Amino acid sequence: MPIEFNPETRQFHLYNDQISYLFDIMKNGQPEQLYFGRKLPKDADCLYLAERCRRDMQACPYPDDPQFSLEHIRQEYPGGGTGDMRVPAFVLERADGSRIVDFRYAGHRIYAGKKEILPLPSTYTEAPEEAQTLELTLADPQIGARLILYYTIFRGVPAVARHAEICCDGQEPLVLEAAMSLSLDLPDMDYDRIDLAGAWSRERHIRRRPLEYGIQSVYSLRGSCSSHQFNPFLALARKDAGEKSGEVIGLSLVYSGDFLAQAEVDNFHVTRLMIGIHPQEFRWPLRQGASFVTPEAVLVYSQEGLNGMSHAFHTLYRTRLASGVWRDRERPVLLNSWEATYMRFDEARILGIARKAAELGVELFVLDDGWFGHRDNTDSSLGDWRPDLRKLPGGICGLSAKLKAAGIGLGLWIEPEMISEDSDLYRAHPDWVLGDSRRTLCRVRGQYMLDFSRPEVVEAIFQQLQQVLTGSGVSYIKWDHNRSMTEVFSQGTPAAEQGCVRHRFILGLYTLYAKLRAAFPEILFESCASGGARFDPGMLYFAPQAWTSDDTDAVERIRIQYGSSLVYPLSSMGAHVSAVPNEQVHRCEPLRTRAAVAYFGTFGYEMDLTKLNAQEQEEVRRQILFMKRYRRLIQQGDFYRLRDPFAGDGNTAAWMVVSPDRAQALVAYYRILQRPEAGYERLPLMGLDPERRYRALEVKGCTEPDPDGPSACRYGAEFCQIGLILSDESSGCRNAAPEVQGDYLARMFLLCAENA
Ligand code: GLA
Repeated sequence: MPIEFNPETRQFHLYNDQISYLFDIMKNGQPEQLYFGRKLPKDADCLYLAERCRRDMQACPYPDDPQFSLEHIRQEYPGGGTGDMRVPAFVLERADGSRIVDFRYAGHRIYAGKKEILPLPSTYTEAPEEAQTLELTLADPQIGARLILYYTIFRGVPAVARHAEICCDGQEPLVLEAAMSLSLDLPDMDYDRIDLAGAWSRERHIRRRPLEYGIQSVYSLRGSCSSHQFNPFLALARKDAGEKSGEVIGLSLVYSGDFLAQAEVDNFHVTRLMIGIHPQEFRWPLRQGASFVTPEAVLVYSQEGLNGMSHAFHTLYRTRLASGVWRDRERPVLLNSWEATYMRFDEARILGIARKAAELGVELFVLDDGWFGHRDNTDSSLGDWRPDLRKLPGGICGLSAKLKAAGIGLGLWIEPEMISEDSDLYRAHPDWVLGDSRRTLCRVRGQYMLDFSRPEVVEAIFQQLQQVLTGSGVSYIKWDHNRSMTEVFSQGTPAAEQGCVRHRFILGLYTLYAKLRAAFPEILFESCASGGARFDPGMLYFAPQAWTSDDTDAVERIRIQYGSSLVYPLSSMGAHVSAVPNEQVHRCEPLRTRAAVAYFGTFGYEMDLTKLNAQEQEEVRRQILFMKRYRRLIQQGDFYRLRDPFAGDGNTAAWMVVSPDRAQALVAYYRILQRPEAGYERLPLMGLDPERRYRALEVKGCTEPDPDGPSACRYGAEFCQIGLILSDESSGCRNAAPEVQGDYLARMFLLCAENA
């Protein structure tokens, strides 16, 4: 996957076996976007794509070249003030208030591999031959500033990672008012835009609408999280592109705070895509010798529809963004105590639930909120990370030893960025609260936020957590975050730097993650933010799995997990079976349907298993056996979305995973409501080897592939072109098999290649 530079044409060509990315350096020294898409011949000369037109009223810097106007030129990282009237990728202000900047080509470097940008998370390489990086340097000597644009192209993945760095070299102080991670100008607007949107409990629903003239965007201005409302992701799909075919461009930001993902279409149908930190509340002063590094953005091109885009994101994010020892390990089957006990527990209750869980095969017991300080409700104790000895007389170590004896590990819930007014930490350091103390501060869930833009606050929390965890036997942490920023003001931070507070907070968060991971490398981290408000690539770097949503209802989860899978791999999606009626929507689905949805993620239970009857407990035991047997396939296989629950009447959905060697596949089909006299039903599959024959077995009760049941033996090509036949007798026939009757039906099939 080389990056080539032609000094005569001043053209850069980044390519691998699937994609090409081309730009050139124009006569004014600025980079001009030429092409991003399917791979072109390696010596392709794309200068003819540098279209110029003489248009009325356009701003022209060269009196003898009336065709040259930045207003109509597709650029790589456009600034404002020099003729381009669209939204710029950056804004840099001089000491006298001038915002006119003229960055011109000053040189470049091409090298194998990729550099990290710590404390910011980013994709990485494990060997130099996995990627090539271009560092393009532009300079404006008049103001003593440099802009460095970074491009990395990966071997075997149709993706380019980009970020920017702005450096102040001169004596004149500068202020950065906006700095996007990536900008990309595309020659037309014949796309639909796709984003992931929602709210608490219904995160990441897929929205698809035609791209329009003007600006359309998704964003977070919540400061400390990427939000339930939108995800730092945007895709453009050709009108004919669907799950299986068609051209799609996907954009994703490796960041967990304020973001803006925007498409701007001008009146000549040119589409400018951008993603980066939201400029609204951002202001970053730069003095001589300082620089600002933007978060990384990842750009994917697929000619195989949305599934093709997702495969690129999944491959990169599962194997070269998620990091640490848990990246490639099978994830433990866990039981989380939250919906089982809330904060009302003592050691005996915990041990009762955990012992039953261990007996049924659960590997990890996660003690959720309520174990520290004197936390009996949400109004107290955040910031006091010491075990509540009323509830746990032997502390965390005592509990952990008892669980170990019962054959189950211990995980703990924490919410390190928060503080309760009723806490020793607040009484000792009221100024550590983020907020303007001259104002009434909003509480969310009874709590305030700590000022993580201050390193001493981050360090103090690290010290407390280190003390709890050292020698504790805790093997898992659920890291929660349950409020957005309000009244953002950092006490003790100079006025000129208040615009840095939100980004510094996120850097403080990342720093704490990095320190805890370094101190406890064997701990598995799961991120969480009132369910899925921080389900973003930034978190994925530190925590290879995330709590997908507080909504554990199977029907809701089908949509949430389906939407999340546009960008995020199954290995990142915490998915649990909870009790019925469901806490969030009061629905009652069969236990097996709840499991058949939760299998497709990192599996667990969110309930008190002692409350199940013997038959249900036996079913749970079989579910856990099933998950242990197939979790490698599920968590590391190739995932394909087959039936979209956001399309049509949304009554059915389906997806499948295929092992990397294509010898095994697991298919799940969900039908929400049973309809009378339903028609015939076929489900075309994906990802199988067309030449190989596969035997498809129904997974009986969603726990056991049934070798004696009806099985189909066909070529992969048949399963993919014609489909798995799902027609059944559930159309009102009185004698139909009970497995296919009723609402909330899940059917699963295991496919095994013959002679595998
Ligand atoms: C958040 C999380 C839940 C649970 C509670 C505990 O809402 O999303 O899973 O941990 O906090 O307070």
